[in-house]
Order: sequence, then C-alpha cells, then structure tokens
Amino acid sequence: MYAEYKGKFYRPLHPRPTVVVVSKCPDGKINAMPASWNTPVSEEPPTIAVAVDRSAYTFQCLEHSGEATINVVPADMADLAYALGSVSGRDVDKVSAFGLKLLPSDVVEAPGLDGSIAVYEARVTAKLDIGEVRLYVFEVLKVKVAQGLVDEWGPVLDKTNLLLHGAGRVFYRVDPRKIWAKKPAGRP
Ligand SMILES: Cc1cc2nc3c(=O)[nH]c(=O)nc-3n(C[C@H](O)[C@H](O)[C@H](O)COP(=O)(O)O)c2cc1C
Repeated sequence: MYAEYKGKFYRPLHPRPTVVVVSKCPDGKINAMPASWNTPVSEEPPTIAVAVDRSAYTFQCLEHSGEATINVVPADMADLAYALGSVSGRDVDKVSAFGLKLLPSDVVEAPGLDGSIAVYEARVTAKLDIGEVRLYVFEVLKVKVAQGLVDEWGPVLDKTNLLLHGAGRVFYRVDPRKIWAKKPAGRP
C-alpha cells in the first residue's frame, strides 16, 4: 500500500552526508557552510556537484573565487556543522566566531577544514540555475584524507563516522555493520 506523501518531497532522500564548503569571499574572508545536497557526479573527470541557495553568502563567494574545498565532516562535528549553517558569513566571520582550524590547501586558495575526514580541493567547472539554487559542478583537483580514517570501502567506521543530515537539528550516523550482497547466481 502506498499513499501520496504531503510532506517536503525531499524527506525520503534524507539522511544525506554533510559536507562543509569552504570558500574565499569578495571581502577577502574565508567562509564555511554545510551542504547536504551534494553528490559525486562523474569519475573522469572527478566531479562533485553541490546545490547552493543563491541567498547564501557562499553563493557570492563561489561566484567571486570559482573554487572551494569540500570537506567531509564526521558525526562528532554535528554541533559545529549545525552552527555553521545557522548564520551567514555575510553577518559573522565564522572562522573567528567558531574558532575554525583551517588547513592550507595545495592547489586552491580556500583552505580545508581541520577535523574533516576528507578534504577535496575543487574548482567550479559548470553551473546550473534551478529554482532558488545554483548547482555548482566542481572538478576535484586534489583529495586528502585524515590519516587512517579512510580505506578502500570509504570512511573507517570503527574510527570515525559520517554526519548524515536528517532534518533541522537531527543528524544520523551510519550503522558500521557491512551488508554483503549475495553474488547473483552464475557470477564469479
Ligand atoms: C546540515 C545542513 C545542511 C545544509 N545543506 C544545504 C545545502 O545543501 N545547500 C544550501 O544552499 N544550504 C544548505 N544548508 C543551509 C546553509 O548552510 C545556511 O543557509 C548557511 O547559513 C549559509 O551560510 P553562508 O550564508 O555563510 O553561505 C544546510 C544547513 C545545514 C545545517
């Protein structure tokens, strides 16, 4: 049995991994905003897309600098991620207000966010305006991971965990138990 869902259409698509987009802004400051509407797009070239509301200061920062770091933050950064998403860099210098520790980048000007599981240094290669959002397509120029926290399966879930955004102040972790799907019959 199915019934039409009258809530926000995207609820069944959550929880979603949260990244923090760090960018250099027109005022010369560094800004940071969480974004859970993000996705890998293509393997070659390595590409990530992030939907950024055009009212966010980050929108202006990305228009200004054309690059960012995309930081995969762990579950224990929930309070910080929520706080970064509750004020605008237009009004608050988030780096000093939240005591953000920044990591120098190798390829882009925007720094990484210390404490992240992974830091993607990335350059905007395409944009698409849809509704209230500009979808930024980023080519990944460099990927760095916190030592020991990422293996061939992704984040090492007995050492760290992903910050999955549910709704509002609600976040989830990933259940660290793996599910091994059965091999289809006749396949090696
Ligand atoms: C966990 C979380 C995820 C969010 N995801 C997005 C997102 O994907 N896209 C977006 O435009 N805003 C998202 N927001 C809202 C922005 O982070 C928020 O508007 C922020 O204050 C913008 O900051 P800025 O004005 O300094 O750029 C999210 C907020 C939270 C707390």
